[in-house]
Amino acid sequence: MSVRLRIVADLEAITAEAGEIVASAAAGAVSRTGAFHMALCGGRTPEGLYRALAGPLSPRIPWEKTTLCLGDERRVPEGQPESNAGLVRRLLLAPLEKKPAFLAPDGASPEGDRAASAYETALRASLGEVPLTLSLQGLGDDGHTASIFPSSPALTESDRWVLAVPAPTTVPPPIPRITLTAALLTRARFVLLLISGASKKEALARMLAPQGDELSCPARLIHRCQGEVTVLCDRASFGSASPEG
Ligand code: 6PG
Repeated sequence: MSVRLRIVADLEAITAEAGEIVASAAAGAVSRTGAFHMALCGGRTPEGLYRALAGPLSPRIPWEKTTLCLGDERRVPEGQPESNAGLVRRLLLAPLEKKPAFLAPDGASPEGDRAASAYETALRASLGEVPLTLSLQGLGDDGHTASIFPSSPALTESDRWVLAVPAPTTVPPPIPRITLTAALLTRARFVLLLISGASKKEALARMLAPQGDELSCPARLIHRCQGEVTVLCDRASFGSASPEG
């Protein structure tokens, strides 16, 4: 499936367009299958989208038919600032009256493999044979996405949907992670990457290049996704002189 690139002015424009994409994907999924499954990412870029989903966009999301899950998690208790589950509960879930189902790995568990297996079991029970509707992802300065870092086994794993992986050495925070594997992410009906800021310019260029090596730039997995991929980036990250359309 081809990759659709959208270059917009700034992070605010990314958030606005991402909100429309999520609302449209949710409506389509519920009318097709009766359910909307969305994987969420951590980091700073999606924060505005999570606030918008809990606020002005909330009436447009069928929360009672929605299951949210995490594309990756840092292995810390939810109360710590690095926790992605903590971020989602704080910005998105807490303000909602109608709460969606939310699946997340146990970041506090001292046994990463056991936590990853338990999360995979919960995901398989929830999804069944239906792929994720939408996988929301970011791009790290080192070319990672989710917590699939350069040379990660999560890139080439073909059976498991979830793996515990070591702390990255290429980007902070140096915390062991649990991540969805490329095997699951590349089957999503929609993949939406939100990319903002000049620090992403080099990784974005490596990700979008016609040729490249996935092991050194795992976000290049977007080129083998089965669904529709939208790369939503701002002028600062793309380095263009002006935004398109
Ligand atoms: C995480 C994310 C990670 C993130 C990128 C970009 O747990 O950190 O899932 O993959 O999307 O690192 O992060 P920013 O949005 O902060 O640039």
